[in-house]
Amino acid sequence: GEAGGWSNRFEQGLHPAIERFNASIGFDILLLQQDLDGSIAHARMLGRCGVISQDESARLIEGLETVRQEAAAGQFRPGLEAEDVHFAVERRLIELLGPLGKKLHTGRSRNDQVGTDLRLWLRQQIDQIDAALLRLERALLEQAERHADTLIPGYTHLQRAQPVCLAHHLLAYIEMAERDRARLADVRGRVNICPLGAAALAGTPVPIDRRQTAAELGFEALYANSLDAVSDRDFAVEFMAAASLVLVHLSRLSEEVILWASEEFGFVALTDRCATGSSLMPQKKNPDVPELVRGKSGRVFGHLMGLLTMIKGLPLAYNKDFQEDKEALFDGVATVHGCLEAMAILFEEGLQFRPERLEAAVASDFSNATDVADYLVARGVPFREAYQLVGGLVKRCLQEGVLLRDLPLDRWQELHPAFDADIHAAIQPRQVVAARRSEGGTGFDQVAAQLQRVRTRLDA
Ligand code: ARG
Repeated sequence: GEAGGWSNRFEQGLHPAIERFNASIGFDILLLQQDLDGSIAHARMLGRCGVISQDESARLIEGLETVRQEAAAGQFRPGLEAEDVHFAVERRLIELLGPLGKKLHTGRSRNDQVGTDLRLWLRQQIDQIDAALLRLERALLEQAERHADTLIPGYTHLQRAQPVCLAHHLLAYIEMAERDRARLADVRGRVNICPLGAAALAGTPVPIDRRQTAAELGFEALYANSLDAVSDRDFAVEFMAAASLVLVHLSRLSEEVILWASEEFGFVALTDRCATGSSLMPQKKNPDVPELVRGKSGRVFGHLMGLLTMIKGLPLAYNKDFQEDKEALFDGVATVHGCLEAMAILFEEGLQFRPERLEAAVASDFSNATDVADYLVARGVPFREAYQLVGGLVKRCLQEGVLLRDLPLDRWQELHPAFDADIHAAIQPRQVVAARRSEGGTGFDQVAAQLQRVRTRLDA
């Protein structure tokens, strides 16, 4: 049968509501460039293999390029009757070339075609997401370099725990982004496998050369099994799982920025470039950007679950259920792009850390209590005993409304004779941070080494 009109087995047209229900052209037009690329590679291969003449092959390619030009000029606007992008292109080709256009689909099915298009598209998107992750890493690194010497309270259970270097905190997110990049690179390897030539499900008697099309389209390998080729959507699931972790990381970072921007924390000021006001309350400056990123993460997790559920009950090989993979991937990819760009801009020009507030925070709490215990440990007191002594001291300080740094030496020596005048220096926030020299710790020299390594990696 002809593209968009079924074989002569059919006598009646589709019910209009069913035509709308069945059609994917409304969204899969996004695959137009990939569909043209795939068809051009297929047409060239058919000519080289002698399935059609070299002249026919050249004219098919020319026709496909004409469709590309028409689309660029806004003159290719297929309607619902085309059903999907594959039929739309084939239909237009037949209009342009007449009977020759009907030869394009030789030895091919929409089943291997759609798998090819989707993989070509996703491969390109992964590369763009990688670039967007790098941009965010650079923005984080620049803030980290600016704040190599700024301290911030470190938390566990969202309770003040021990002070850390602000650069150290930001570098943690760069590490997450690096794992995200590595995961996406790994997924890309399994996206970049060519299903073309599997035809509908069983291969084809037409003497095609799958290696030619795969090579022309830049695929690294061929699917070994035609049934698997047309029914594998693992790559879409894997991508969405990797994308979900990207969004988990962005959402956690967003949550921190939202907290930091609150009056209660006051650790960052939002610039006008990335904050919004209230329609009612004139004093408000709201962190809409991180809130939206945090909120949008749910979409991507939802798509992951949707894809898994869509696939799990499907018998081999192609089933129309697969058409549902597209909107999930398209929306998932758009969400990742949007969130990564917004977060990069937020760290490039949307917020300023407030060192005076951060310094005041670390200077006025008990986050140096561990270091008092460590001080005793260094002088031979067993850790658990030191821990109990300091716990009692903190309790009394809280009752009296004083900080550890305010205690005179006789109070220290009353607690334990091992205390000396150097206790005051040892519990200064800067000293507390500097002391954490273990590999990967927040000590300033460890952080400087981290900054150096990341800078080298990102400049390479
Ligand atoms: N629009 C379809 C999809 O997105 C293309 C493949 C259709 N194949 C078929 N045998 N109906 O999956």
